[in-house]
Amino acid sequence: MSTATPTSPFGKVQPIDIVNLASLKERARNVMGPGEFGYITEAADDGITMRRNTEDFANISILPRVLQGIEQPDQTTTFLGAKLSSPLMTAPIAGNTLAHPSGELGLARGAKESDIMMAQSTFASKTIAETAEVSAGAPYMFQLYMPKDWDYCKYLLDEAHKANALAIILTADSTLGGYRELDVINHYHLRGKIANLDGYNTGQSGVGAGGLFKESMQALDLPLIQKLADYSDLPIIIKGIQDPRDAVAAIDAGAAGIYVSNHGGRQVDGAPGSIACLPAVAKAVNHRVPIIFDGGVQRGTHVLKALALGADLVAVGRPFSYGLALGGYEGVSAVAEHLKMELNIAMQLTGCATIADAKKLHYDWL
Ligand SMILES: Cc1cc2nc3c(=O)[nH]c(=O)nc-3n(C[C@H](O)[C@H](O)[C@H](O)COP(=O)(O)O)c2cc1C
Repeated sequence: MSTATPTSPFGKVQPIDIVNLASLKERARNVMGPGEFGYITEAADDGITMRRNTEDFANISILPRVLQGIEQPDQTTTFLGAKLSSPLMTAPIAGNTLAHPSGELGLARGAKESDIMMAQSTFASKTIAETAEVSAGAPYMFQLYMPKDWDYCKYLLDEAHKANALAIILTADSTLGGYRELDVINHYHLRGKIANLDGYNTGQSGVGAGGLFKESMQALDLPLIQKLADYSDLPIIIKGIQDPRDAVAAIDAGAAGIYVSNHGGRQVDGAPGSIACLPAVAKAVNHRVPIIFDGGVQRGTHVLKALALGADLVAVGRPFSYGLALGGYEGVSAVAEHLKMELNIAMQLTGCATIADAKKLHYDWL
């Protein structure tokens, strides 16, 4: 654990002004220790895939329509029956108390105030029940790193059910952690409280990221999808899909949703930018199940492009962590509202009155 003192106070709850999401990273650096900041900001190996995630949006052009008689674009949408003010979600992120003492409670409150979807990680620093209390009634999903121990897995699924989770997001791309050099340089280990482990009383709190992944199942395979669905009764969404063949196989095996993601470039460095994978996956899925997308989203136009390329819900990871670090739940809400404002401009100027229109936009690769 890093001991260096950040230059600005950690843990403030305050409104934050945002010019653009990209500028939040450097501001957040000042409120966190270098180990914590490094853990959140880093990617695998040389960071090639993480950079591609955002850069690849520049390779896509969208063709604006005019004279569509639009004055107030409507961003509202639904996902698995839940009504949302905008097709946005906080991507599941481990250990949010690294960014702010409120952790997932701040994320949940910020997401609720902005009426967007929240997803909570297995490796969260607050229990599912604690977060559910804050998000009560607001749309919420639970992300599962499937434990080797089936009883512990059942405990997590039961807790998610009690918390009224809309779905279980099974992360399939992280059967171990990618090689992340900043953690080596900073001698950093994710040792924060892993609340869901404490809740199950395994006595394994503070085992570090490597240890946590070791406790998770490495040999994930297709039959597990049905096993999870049968036990939990909740829709199972598979996160970390990049290859259309995996999307089809997962749906055939019982998946109720596909989550296109490369984990923010933290796993396989050299993988394509996430947005580059989306069109082929969307074509293969062919509207059989809904699609969530994440990776490098920093602009309203990025959200619009992801919708045009086949996403139903667009998740954002690090920018929400930076917002949380800078202003607690108010910072989270500020990030959501800023993205909504940019998306509103993008929709108005491309002639999209609704999210359904955005999904029909013409696009092209440069
Ligand atoms: C610090 C950090 C922790 C993460 N923890 C998890 C996790 O516990 N479970 C998971 O499925 N994905 C996790 N992810 C990946 C995110 O859900 C998401 O795929 C990624 O952050 C999206 O890229 P973006 O940060 O460019 O928006 C994590 C990402 C970061 C940056």
